[in-house]
Amino acid sequence: MSDAITHRTEREDFQATSDPAVLASADIGQANLLSYPQLYRLWERQQWATQDLDFTQDREDWWGFPEDERYQRMYGLSSFFIGEQRVADELGPIMRAAPDEEMRIFLCTQIADEARHVEFFNRFYEEVGVLDSGSLPDRLTETSDHLSPNFHVLFDEMLHSRVDRLGANPDDLETLVEAITLYHMVIEGMLALTGQHFIISYNEENGTLPGFVEGFNNVARDEHRHVAFGARFLRDMAERDGRYRDAIQRTLVECGPAADGVLAPPWYEEGMEVFGVSLEETRAFAMKALERRLKVIGLAPVA
Ligand SMILES: [Fe+2]
Ligand SMILES: [Fe+2]
Repeated sequence: MSDAITHRTEREDFQATSDPAVLASADIGQANLLSYPQLYRLWERQQWATQDLDFTQDREDWWGFPEDERYQRMYGLSSFFIGEQRVADELGPIMRAAPDEEMRIFLCTQIADEARHVEFFNRFYEEVGVLDSGSLPDRLTETSDHLSPNFHVLFDEMLHSRVDRLGANPDDLETLVEAITLYHMVIEGMLALTGQHFIISYNEENGTLPGFVEGFNNVARDEHRHVAFGARFLRDMAERDGRYRDAIQRTLVECGPAADGVLAPPWYEEGMEVFGVSLEETRAFAMKALERRLKVIGLAPVA
């Protein structure tokens, strides 16, 4: 791991979330995962506003990039912008299906966070003038041209079908475990946080997009808190019943190829670097984070 990434994961506010991926002790399966009420209270302390961000310098930087660089950056931006909108829209039935009140209260805070993340991208696009479109729905449509087909498999097929099942049958705990594995462990834990680390580092090293970097660090802190909830929930459920352990493992195997596909842009060619790193390095970062979380949930062997 590069120093910049180690430096960021050691931030006090990231450590405070108890996401196993930022805790070295998770390598031996140990982590003091916060309880659901503690996660709620941390949310109250970790507030921020998209309105406070200043994108003036970002606008200058963006239009100073060569056209092919703007095009390449659009893959990461589009995946996040649309990804945030998808998860915001899917979280309601997941919240309702959570079996305990304390879980539901935390998931309500997460719905607010995901809405703020959508608005963060919407403001960045608007202030920087990334697209021709002038409204949120039009921007989402225009920017979706940049997505990988695997993105649709993961979000619009695998996640959406499970959330539909939960909407129709909120007592289906096995489907809830599958949905949270997909949402919190794979989409947020493996994909979003990995993309965030490399995109933030790349901009920090190049001194570009300061408003975006500030906001994206806040988004990453929120995601660590969400994933910490996911790890807590899955550990609790895996302890309750072997059926749920199987459901976690089954879901990870099923979505593996599509998740891996999202890490590579549609225009990716063998040996290419994306945001200054190879695909192998990106994969290794994502897998390390998953391994730490699975050790803490009790699903991976502890060395
Ligand atoms: Fe988010
Ligand atoms: Fe999230």
